[in-house]
Amino acid sequence: MRMYDLIMKKRNGSALTGEEIRFMVQGYTKGEIPDYQMSAMMMAIYFRGMDADETLALTMEMAHSGDMLDLSDIHGVKVDKHSTGGVGDKTSLALTPMVAAAGVTVAKMSGRGLGHTGGTIDKLESFSGFSTAITEQQFKENVNRIGIAIMGQTADLAPADKKLYALRDVTATVDNMSLIASSIMSKKLAAGADAIVLDVKTGSGAFMKTQEDSFALAREMVRIGNGAGRKTIAVVSDMDQPLGCAVGNALEVREAIDTLRGCGPEDFVELCLTLGSYMLVAGGEAATEEEAEQILREVIENGSALDKLAEFIAAQGGDRELVYHPEKLPQASMTQEIESPADGYIQRIVCDEIGICSLILGGGRETKESAIDLSVGLVLHKKVGDAVKKGESLATIHANDQAKLDMAKERFLQAYTIDEEPVEKKPLIKGIVIE
Ligand code: URA
Repeated sequence: MRMYDLIMKKRNGSALTGEEIRFMVQGYTKGEIPDYQMSAMMMAIYFRGMDADETLALTMEMAHSGDMLDLSDIHGVKVDKHSTGGVGDKTSLALTPMVAAAGVTVAKMSGRGLGHTGGTIDKLESFSGFSTAITEQQFKENVNRIGIAIMGQTADLAPADKKLYALRDVTATVDNMSLIASSIMSKKLAAGADAIVLDVKTGSGAFMKTQEDSFALAREMVRIGNGAGRKTIAVVSDMDQPLGCAVGNALEVREAIDTLRGCGPEDFVELCLTLGSYMLVAGGEAATEEEAEQILREVIENGSALDKLAEFIAAQGGDRELVYHPEKLPQASMTQEIESPADGYIQRIVCDEIGICSLILGGGRETKESAIDLSVGLVLHKKVGDAVKKGESLATIHANDQAKLDMAKERFLQAYTIDEEPVEKKPLIKGIVIE
């Protein structure tokens, strides 16, 4: 088999066989196929696309290119959750203890933030001492003992995807549906869970800006997951404005804790209950989503979800007391209100701009190596559809540097559109994709 022939085959619009995809992925991972040939192949795929069989074959090859985590010695159905990423998306922080408190085993691999969206690991590091750099053995023991563990992605998890993603990133071939779906799902399959609940974001703060593209990505990933024998469902949810109110690492942790105490923002609570219901049904703890939602409400009301978060934080070296005293989490040295320049209704928020404000304050990573300031960020007081009076606070900025605060404030005001016309609030959940 020759890579040249495969590039020509795809360039001319034919489907590659499973054997050809194996040759290509294995050869590239081992360094036998050079970047320039793989770049040409990615561009051919970008223009010609891949059918469902090719996409599944690519995913399976990438998943098997490194370690496949074997979770079979963990009791029960292991459920994972994945979000395609968004602004203020602290869902895993509240959702995973809720689900674990309800009896479903959560064995999760998470990533760090890059660009305008934050990562779960960075947020969790707001708990002093907490680490996701645990061994596979510790990971499994924790899951068996307390029903929940979160681990950083190991270097040998889907290395073919790692190499290919870096190549796509510099050859303008990232935004192809089959390539994105296979990239995300290869890592999820390698991470070993039996069932996967996906939160596919849609809107100005998301990777996929239109609902059409978001549903197409959701369908592709669900097809791959089920095709690989893992029960997979996707929830398509709004990212046309930040999720909840807090944006920034420790601020988001506080909001997740508030949610576990029963006083979270409405949209965030709705998302946790929706994703959690599907996780409980997939994990066999509830027969219907309605029953599951009732159980999830109970674990919030009786405090067991909050206690589960404390147990999980302590098991991975963090200070459990912070769960009960969130005022001791990292705090910025100054706060300032951003006042509304006019009376009216919030028409629109350019969501990724709010993520960038948090980045400017120091809450995100400009490059993989940069350090982040856990304490900074924003807490929104007004969201789309809300009425506002001139001078009323739109948000509170938390900062450690006056110049950065000023810059973020200016950018924030540009991201909000306020007008006299009342605006209808749009639903958070756009739909569910089940094969
Ligand atoms: N996230 C991934 O992991 N892969 C992609 O291709 C895009 C987003």
